[in-house]
Amino acid sequence: MFRSAPPAPSGRRRLLDAARALTTPLLPEDFLTLVDPLWSTSSLRGRVVARRRETDRAVSVTIEPGRAWAGHRAGQYVGVGVDVDGVRYRRSYSLSGPEGSEHLTVTVQEVPGGVVSTRLVRDLPIGTIVELEQASGTFTLPEPLPSKLLFVTAGSGITPVMSMLRTLDRRGTVPDTVLVHSARTPEDTIFGAELAGLAARHPSLRVVTRHSAVTGRLDPASVDAAVPDRAGRAIYACGPAGLLDALTEAWDGVVAERFTPPARAAEGTGGTVDLGGSAVEVAPGQSLLEAGEAAGRIMPSGCRMGICFGCVLPLREGRVRDLRTGEAHGEPGDLVQTCVNSACGTARIDLP
Ligand SMILES: Cc1cc2nc3c(=O)[nH]c(=O)nc-3n(C[C@H](O)[C@H](O)[C@H](O)COP(=O)(O)OP(=O)(O)OC[C@H]3O[C@@H](n4cnc5c(N)ncnc54)[C@H](O)[C@@H]3O)c2cc1C
Ligand code: FES
Repeated sequence: MFRSAPPAPSGRRRLLDAARALTTPLLPEDFLTLVDPLWSTSSLRGRVVARRRETDRAVSVTIEPGRAWAGHRAGQYVGVGVDVDGVRYRRSYSLSGPEGSEHLTVTVQEVPGGVVSTRLVRDLPIGTIVELEQASGTFTLPEPLPSKLLFVTAGSGITPVMSMLRTLDRRGTVPDTVLVHSARTPEDTIFGAELAGLAARHPSLRVVTRHSAVTGRLDPASVDAAVPDRAGRAIYACGPAGLLDALTEAWDGVVAERFTPPARAAEGTGGTVDLGGSAVEVAPGQSLLEAGEAAGRIMPSGCRMGICFGCVLPLREGRVRDLRTGEAHGEPGDLVQTCVNSACGTARIDLP
C-alpha cells in the first residue's frame, strides 16, 4: 500500500550520499529515524503539530507528514494509525486541507463510544507520532471541471468537500457551484463561518445550510426544492448512509463517499480463528478485523468497508464467511479481506 519515497532535494541527497559512505553497512536514515521518526523512508509517520476546535464535537488535527508523504488530491482520505490503551487502531479520515498543503489536516467528529474519534477529538497531545498511509480514494474533482456542480453533505461529510472548495478557492476559479449542507444545529456546523466567507468571496458559489434539529433530515426532495436546476449539475455527496442511499436511489450519476459501511447482509457463524499464532474468538456477525483489534492484535486496515483492500491477510487453513453476501469461501493461500469477512468455524490466518 505504501508508495516509495519521493527523491530528497539535491543538497540533502548529496549529504545523505556522503553520510551513507561513513555509516555503511547501516544507512544514515536508520540513525536519523531514531532521532526523528519522520525521516523514515520505509514507514510513513506523522507528527501532530496543531489542533483546532471546530465545534463541541469536532476538531481539525494538523499533522506534519514524514518524508515519504506523496501529497493528496482534494477529496481523498488518509489512513491514520493511533495507539489507544496499547492497541494500534487504524481509521480513514478525509483530508480537509487544500491540495498542495505542506502539512495534512483531518477534521474528525466524535462518534459516541468511538475508539479513535474520541481520542482524536478529546485528548491527542501535540507532538504525538501517528502512523500514516498514503492518500487514496476516487472521490475527487474530475479534470476538466464540470461547468455546474452540486455538493450535498451532512455532518462530518463536509470534510472532503471542504478540501475541494479550499482547492478551488486557492486556484481562484470556482465554477457554478451549490453546496447544500446539513448539520444538527448552527453550533454543530463544521466550517460554518468559513463556508459563508467562501460564498461571499465567490459569487459563483451558493451555500445552503440546513439544521436538522429544526427542519429535519436532508432528503432528495428538500435538495430539489433548494436547487431547481439540480438535474443539470454533476453531483457529489458525502454524509450518513441513509442520506447517500436516498440520493443514489433517487438520482442517476451521484458520486458518493461513504464513511460507514452499508448494513451487513449476513450474520456469519463465528468461530475460533488462529490469528498470527494465537486464538481469537470471532462472534457471529463480527468481522475478523474487529475481533482481532478487540483482542489487541495489530491488524492492517483502511476503509473498513471492503473497498480499499488494505486489510487483506493470507488464509492458511479453514474458510471464512463474507458478511456482505453470507457466502462461505476461501482456500489455503487465498487473501481475505478481514474487514468484511467473519469466521466460519475454525481457521488460521497469518499476520504480517
Ligand atoms: C473514506 C472515509 C473517510 C472518512 N472521513 C472522515 C472524516 O473526515 N471525519 C470523520 O469524523 N470521520 C471520517 N470517517 C469515519 C472514520 O473513519 C471512523 O469510522 C470514525 O471516526 C469512527 O471511528 P471510531 O474508532 O471512533 O469508532 P468505532 O470504535 O470504530 O465505532 C464505534 C461505533 O460507532 C459506529 N460508527 C463508526 N463510524 C461512524 C460514523 N462515521 N458515524 C456514525 N457512527 C459510526 C460503529 O458502527 C460502532 O457502532 C471516514 C471513513 C471513511 C471510510
Ligand atoms: S479495510 Fe478497506 S477493504 Fe478492508
